[in-house]
Parts: sequence; C-alpha cells; structure tokens
Amino acid sequence: MAKFKFDIRCIFTQPVVKISSNLLPHTFRGDRRMAMDVSSKVSEILDRLGELSAVAQKLTKPITSAQKLRVSENQTVYLMADINDYDGDTIIGLLKVGTKNLYLFDSLGQTKKIDKARCILDFYIHESRQRSGLGKKLFDIMLAEEKWTPIKCSVDRPSEKLVRFLKKYYGLENIIPQTNKFVLYEGFFDDAEQEDRG
Ligand code: ACO
Repeated sequence: MAKFKFDIRCIFTQPVVKISSNLLPHTFRGDRRMAMDVSSKVSEILDRLGELSAVAQKLTKPITSAQKLRVSENQTVYLMADINDYDGDTIIGLLKVGTKNLYLFDSLGQTKKIDKARCILDFYIHESRQRSGLGKKLFDIMLAEEKWTPIKCSVDRPSEKLVRFLKKYYGLENIIPQTNKFVLYEGFFDDAEQEDRG
C-alpha cells in the first residue's frame, strides 16, 4: 500500500477527495499556513501515486504529478484513501480526469472538433487493493461528481486492465477508431449537443 510518513487525515476527511490546480482537497477549510502544509502533503501524494501509476502502466514518465496538476486548470484528480487505517497513512489510488479540445473521428470516419471532450487521463489502484471493487467505487464517485456518463468519456491510452474494467462495468466494447491516442466507444457521438459542437 502507498504509505506516507505523515497523518493523511488532514487531507482525507472523507475516503475520496477532489484535488484541482490549487493542490488542496475540495473539503479544505483553513488558514494560509494550513493550506501550505496540506498542499505540500498533497503534492507528495500526487507525485508518489503518479510514479506508481506510471510503473504499473510501463510508462517512461508519470502522467500525474503535482507540478502538472498545478498548471492544468481543467483537470481534477480524485484521490482515495483508507481512512479506517488506524495509522492514518494509507492511500489507495487516484483517478485523473479533465477536458480537452480534440479532433475526433465519428463512426462514419468524419472528423469532428469536440470542445471540452471529457477525458479519463490516469487511473491507478494500488496493487494490494486491485480487483476488490475499489476502482469501480472511485470511478462511480467521479461520474457522479462530474455528471458524466461512461459512454461520453474518451480514454487516454487505456491499459488492458482498464479496457476490461470499462467493458465489465459499463458495457463499453465497440471502439470508434482514432488516429490519436484516445479511445472512444460507440455512442460517444449519439448526443445532439456534442454533434452540434462538431
Ligand atoms: N487483469 C484483467 N482485468 C483486470 C485486472 C487484471 N489484473 N485488474 C482489474 N481488471 C478489470 C477486470 O474487469 C476486473 O474484473 P474481474 O476481476 O471480474 O476480471 C475489474 O477490472 C475489477 O474491478 P475493480 O476491482 O473495481 O478495479 P480495480 O480496483 O482493480 O481498478 C484499475 C481498476 C484502475 C484498472 C486497476 O486495475 C489498476 O490500477 N491497474 C494498473 C494501472 C492501470 O492499468 N491503469 C489504467 C491506465 S489507462 C488510463 O489511466 C487512461
């Protein structure tokens, strides 16, 4: 498990918190001094989890880091912790999502420009906790918070595990081929709002 030397309960007043570019949990309340302390701890967590995720995906460098999130206004990292761990130091995983303006092919092979396409950017559950339903729990919390539906999400270079995960829980199977690194599923464009923006 991803353990830290400090007590993570100053960050996790609940099992899942949202972190944006200010590197503070959405639940944070406190003064400037507390904000600096909490954001430096959040940075350490993001950097470590980002590295673990990169290793798990066999990437040469992390997709998620504190520095990257700080300069990304339209990205959010959902962090999940075990708040029942009596030492108060165990992080379970992360899910980074955001929006991007993308040129995408629809199922007829026509190019469409989608503004603020919803993207799944990085997803990692610690090896010691995988396949116990925590990824699904974290993903569902993200969907509810963002008000997204899985079929409307583009996925940045999904791993085999994520491909299976999306198929198992959300029935996502039929891919619309793209020339970029994003994977879309049939149904992505079945929405007047997105078509209009194309
Ligand atoms: N082999 C095959 N399928 C897997 C595996 C595995 N080792 N692990 C998870 N899955 C899929 C399967 O569909 C599995 O169902 P099954 O056990 O009945 O076969 C299902 O996920 C399990 O669901 P959860 O327990 O809710 O998922 P989990 O907590 O394991 O989280 C995740 C899924 C995030 C993909 C996790 O396995 C992980 O961190 N993997 C390593 C990193 C990774 O590949 N991340 C995705 C990168 S791509 C991207 O982020 C855009």
